Amino acid sequence: MRIVSIFFFIAGFSTYAQKPNLKRAITHATHQTNLMLSEIGKADNESETLVSPRTLVDGKLKLVASKDWTSGFFSGTLWYLFELSNNDKWKAEAQKFTAKIEQEKYNAKTHDMGFKVYCSFGNGYRLTRDPQYREVILHSAKTLATRFNPKVGAIRSWDHSSDKWDFPVIIDNMLNLELLFEATKLSGDSAYYKIAVSHANTTLKNHFRANYSTWHVIGYDPKTGEVVKRNTHQGYADASAWARGQAWALYGYTMCYRETKDPKYLAQAKNVANFIFTHKNMPADFVPYWDFDAPNITSEPRDVSAAAVIASALYELSTYSNNNDYFNKANKMMKSIALKYNSIKGTNKGFILDHSTGAKPSNSEVDVPLIYADYYYLEALVRYKNIVNN
Ligand code: GLY
Repeated sequence: MRIVSIFFFIAGFSTYAQKPNLKRAITHATHQTNLMLSEIGKADNESETLVSPRTLVDGKLKLVASKDWTSGFFSGTLWYLFELSNNDKWKAEAQKFTAKIEQEKYNAKTHDMGFKVYCSFGNGYRLTRDPQYREVILHSAKTLATRFNPKVGAIRSWDHSSDKWDFPVIIDNMLNLELLFEATKLSGDSAYYKIAVSHANTTLKNHFRANYSTWHVIGYDPKTGEVVKRNTHQGYADASAWARGQAWALYGYTMCYRETKDPKYLAQAKNVANFIFTHKNMPADFVPYWDFDAPNITSEPRDVSAAAVIASALYELSTYSNNNDYFNKANKMMKSIALKYNSIKGTNKGFILDHSTGAKPSNSEVDVPLIYADYYYLEALVRYKNIVNN
């Protein structure tokens, strides 16, 4: 009896120890984001065309224009800080940075509309119901829909690299579908919902290997809809499992299940999670190397952004499951991130997290802070808080 009690005490303690410390995480994020605001104020941005922080280059803050795919993450981070703290200071800052992205609603040259507009205006609308934000979401969805090709059944990702692909679709594009689902809810026009479902189905059919890992880029023939190529762009090899790509897949199908309740999306999300967590190269702390198949595993850089996206997705997936496995895994990831991958307080120009990897093959953004890691980390904290408070 005594041994059994000791066992339950230890098991209980270790489960407790794996939970994120919400208060400490919010305090750290608040401190870092105050620093970031002051660094943005000091940055060289005379024409004021640079609207949002993205990363550090040689220790210097890199700000980007609204057309950059990452431009919506800082305002999204500010919205999440507002949601976590209920402090109106963050709301005012979020409104200020969100407004700087509005012109993207006209930009039909890329698929990144969801990243840019939904993380900023989408969160803003969710938290304020500002009718101006609603208008921006609807206009953006209309613009994004122009990139849909009914023959392929998907939204074209890039216009660049046309020497390599006629009609490239990247797994990341799944994240843009949330904006389309929302546009149907706001407008009553089912066209956006249908495009999102078609894109999700086409991606489900063509982007995944038998083991449920995903290719990064699928090149389609825009006239026939046939798959022409399967490649990578930011991963180690065409046949490898780029960590953030797996994260986008997990997040994308979890979100599609929320929006449609189609069980095949839930099954896909669970299969992707299974691939990620049973992979022999998944480290014990659950923060993946930048590519699961990178050649020098154990000395390869990590990608904390992939971990943050996976943790956020897992919290949502845990609400569609009747056991605690996804919730416990997400908690463990969040605990690891906070203990080992946080920016040291007062450093990194105010980025919350360190040690993400953007594009290792082009030696770009390797083992650095990236704003989208911060964004999905705070989103994961919000999701954690909502789960434990319900
Ligand atoms: N969507 C670009 C990336 O994940 O790096």
